[in-house]
Amino acid sequence: MAMAGSAVGLGNIWRFPYMVGEHGGAAFVIVYIACCLLVSLPIFFSESIIGKTTRTDTFGALEFLAPKAKNVGYVAILASFIILSFYSVVGGWSFNYLIRSLGGSFNGLGMEQAREVFAGVGSSPVESVSCMLVFLGLTAMIVVAGVDKGIGRFSKISIPVLFVMVVLIAWVSLRLPGAGKGVEYLVKPDFSKLDAPAIAAALGQSFFSLSLGVGSILTYSSYMKEEDNVLQAGAWTALFDTLFAIIAGFAIMPAVFAAGIEPAAGPSLVFETLPVIFSRMGVVLPIIFFLAILIAALSSSISMLEVVVAWLVDQKGMRRSYAVLAVFAAAAALGSACAVVPRVFSSCDFFSSNVLMMIGALAFALIVGWKMPREEVLRHVRFEFVYSLIRYVAPIMIVAIAVTNLL
Ligand code: PHE
Repeated sequence: MAMAGSAVGLGNIWRFPYMVGEHGGAAFVIVYIACCLLVSLPIFFSESIIGKTTRTDTFGALEFLAPKAKNVGYVAILASFIILSFYSVVGGWSFNYLIRSLGGSFNGLGMEQAREVFAGVGSSPVESVSCMLVFLGLTAMIVVAGVDKGIGRFSKISIPVLFVMVVLIAWVSLRLPGAGKGVEYLVKPDFSKLDAPAIAAALGQSFFSLSLGVGSILTYSSYMKEEDNVLQAGAWTALFDTLFAIIAGFAIMPAVFAAGIEPAAGPSLVFETLPVIFSRMGVVLPIIFFLAILIAALSSSISMLEVVVAWLVDQKGMRRSYAVLAVFAAAAALGSACAVVPRVFSSCDFFSSNVLMMIGALAFALIVGWKMPREEVLRHVRFEFVYSLIRYVAPIMIVAIAVTNLL
């Protein structure tokens, strides 16, 4: 559940549905699933094997398995920290919108007004920083309670609830008059749109969506029990994550088309278009929607914080509570910069997902594919072809997308 929580996040809600529509509907979904199976899952297995065999934090794990590459551990930890910082800004907006929807302030909202509200939220430093701090504070409270009592318990309760909420929204959305156009946008296959950038986008998205390359999966796997199965955990997480993304698509796009609005991606979809649409359907739906986003974001942010906290606890001998406090303070500082200066936000996003994540993912695949004893890896992944995917396909594809995205 915790791994599923880490995977399911803003990536599923605000990027996936739009990407699908932009890049050829069902054709893109097929490529996305292929990318998951051939590249992202093997990397997931690699991270998981590293965590499960070393039973320590990201830096310690790499130092143990590949001392020469141990500094890549810092790259992954830094990536987690940076993602946590800008992700918390968006988490803060979700909190802000949840409070607004609880107060019924979206009643009868028009598109122009929605733009004004969001511009106001984004440009008011006090509002965005304080909401970011609340979100980060919630994240810290869950993580400080511990792996089982905090992260585990939160995930076991919130992920099933989240799933029910999204299914409910999809049900409402699909029954709207004119929803058919949105369904068409998502499913109509258009293979002519599948160019190299589309494929790179599918791969990049599946990396981000499965939380790869930053040590989250590694750290969670270090808490696995001996009898837990790496293959199973990875397969379930990927399946749930993909299913969730597709259902989120059906929750969002039919509503967008039914309202006759052009689909968008990112903040404007979640914080402008959707409040307008969902507020036309009563006071409860916006509340459910923003609560769902808040939970999805929290279940991901705890997995980013845990990476840094595990490192401070295992390597620096800090107490868990102090470690959480220290990372909270540092992320609050960078998060404030992200909340106030849009350029800092977008640079953090770009640098962490296009550079740091790729370095981390490449290192994890190479260490498991080329450094660890073959028998040991096969004991976890069982099938020879999975081992070959880790050794050859994953590293080559990571380099290929990194180059495509940076050019
Ligand atoms: N997988 C999360 C999402 O889709 C983001 C994430 C990235 C979480 C890296 C943890 C680590 O939103």
